[in-house]
Amino acid sequence: MKKENMPVLEVKSLAKSYSTDAETLTVLKDISFILEKNQSLAVIGESGTGKSTLLNLVGGLDYVSGGEIVVFNKKIENMTETQLADFRNKNIGFIFQYHHLLPDFTALENVMLPFLIGSFNKQAAEESAAKLLGSVGLIDRLKHKPSQLSGGEQQRVAIARSLINRPGLVLMDEPTGNLDEKTSAEVMDLVWKLADEFDLTVVLVSHNLAIAAQADKCIRLSKGSSEFIHLD
Ligand SMILES: Nc1ncnc2c1ncn2[C@@H]1O[C@H](COP(=O)(O)OP(=O)(O)OP(=O)(O)O)[C@@H](O)[C@H]1O
Ligand SMILES: [Mg+2]
Repeated sequence: MKKENMPVLEVKSLAKSYSTDAETLTVLKDISFILEKNQSLAVIGESGTGKSTLLNLVGGLDYVSGGEIVVFNKKIENMTETQLADFRNKNIGFIFQYHHLLPDFTALENVMLPFLIGSFNKQAAEESAAKLLGSVGLIDRLKHKPSQLSGGEQQRVAIARSLINRPGLVLMDEPTGNLDEKTSAEVMDLVWKLADEFDLTVVLVSHNLAIAAQADKCIRLSKGSSEFIHLD
């Protein structure tokens, strides 16, 4: 297969259960989908249906109970902890509802950090981080700490941080869940602009159907299964 046509993400018969002493809770029973380069998938479903669980599994932050996840032709479960951490840092970007920026670091430093984990080239990290902060419209906020930024600006810093290592796959869990409607729309416009510019494959969890409808495909989770649905 030509590399161009290689799937970026393959989720095959994925299952996940959580076991406690008292019981086993099956959250995902049989989820399958494939995403190619520059394709986006929205994941919707009621609270507790396993949307975050699915993202965590795809990002290798938790272990599957059944089925498999293949990212760029590599099976996540075949990797050791160290390999997975390295693979994740290079290939997968995460954006969450709360930005998780480090409060004592500036916007520039927050964006630089994932780069510095992979390479100790501080100058290259700084240049790349400043450029990305420019792309998200924050070139005049480089030295601001998170508390000195608005919610939308903080989320744009988080987006820049998720892209610093040029991942091919970006996972977003309610990226605008904490923002007002206008700011949400601006942040999502930015997300899609960057997705095109960087050829990103995106999995986006959202409660907002208008936002979910912006993705190429949409699945709804319910009772452990998923169905493809069409949103206008
Ligand atoms: N570490 C865990 N141990 C046990 N149960 C868990 C764990 N993580 C999640 N769950 C359970 O799995 C179910 C799915 O949780 P998940 O966070 O994936 O839902 P969600 O669809 O993201 O919901 P929301 O829309 O509220 O964010 C929930 O019932 C939750 O209680
Ligand atoms: Mg969730």
